[in-house]
Amino acid sequence: MSSPPRHQGTRPPENEKFAEVGKAAALAAGRLLMEKLRTDFAVSHKGDTNLVTEVDIAAEKLIVSRILEAFPEHAILAEENHDHTVRSGCTWIIDPLDGTTNYAHRYPVFAVSVGLEIEGELEWGIVYNPNLEEVFTARRGGGAFCNGAPIHVSNTPDLGSSLLATGFPYDIRTSKANLNHFANFMLRAQAVRRGGSAALDFCYVAAGRFDGFWELALHPWDCAAGFLIVREAGGVVTDFDGAPGSIDYPEVVASNGLIHEQVLEVLRSAGT
Ligand code: IPD
Ligand code: CA
Ligand code: CA
Repeated sequence: MSSPPRHQGTRPPENEKFAEVGKAAALAAGRLLMEKLRTDFAVSHKGDTNLVTEVDIAAEKLIVSRILEAFPEHAILAEENHDHTVRSGCTWIIDPLDGTTNYAHRYPVFAVSVGLEIEGELEWGIVYNPNLEEVFTARRGGGAFCNGAPIHVSNTPDLGSSLLATGFPYDIRTSKANLNHFANFMLRAQAVRRGGSAALDFCYVAAGRFDGFWELALHPWDCAAGFLIVREAGGVVTDFDGAPGSIDYPEVVASNGLIHEQVLEVLRSAGT
């Protein structure tokens, strides 16, 4: 006897169409990022160190128009669209260019991230790195993939042998946030990297390239696809207290699971 469908209310054929449209939109945006990378695009400031380029905006418009053309009734939560309160039955959570500072400097580490939340549950996600032509995808309950091949978190058993990743918030000049944790992990892990794209940091945990990743001030669009990809690759995502991670909560730890407690312990040892 066949088992009942996992997601009442969302039939599999709809899921297929969501993935097809979401993937086509993310790939088109990634191609746009590559086309514009060597051009003289305009850059403006959202804050002292927080940049936005005209390419962020163009890529977001492209993704949003493709999605709304296919699903006019769906909600959009996208970084550069300033209405960040919208959330409905089906919400697409979009970071059109994760790694804007890198992009503005033509440092080739950036990605497009698109996640789909249905009734408050992350259902599907894609992170596209157009520099390496790597497409990371996951569907809830369906595993995680890079260019169609299954991926899995590492089996590194301890922090001392781990390669970690982190990032710093845009208010660092005043908050100094994460400098204490960064110093502590530099002394405890094998090494720590700061790539500048949280979406890729999640995918690299999922693919076993990093053993763990933490950050203090992330937004839903940095996390939506990445959370699902890590979890579907067998990893763990929590807050700094070890409670299941929420894309609406800024503090995040993602790991292979095996080193998770050790990472939390180092974070706790620094206090708040
Ligand atoms: C940023 C990147 C960076 C992380 C920041 C994010 P953006 O996103 O993911 O790695 O450290 O917290 O805001 O602004 O390039 O989309
Ligand atoms: Ca981002
Ligand atoms: Ca962005």
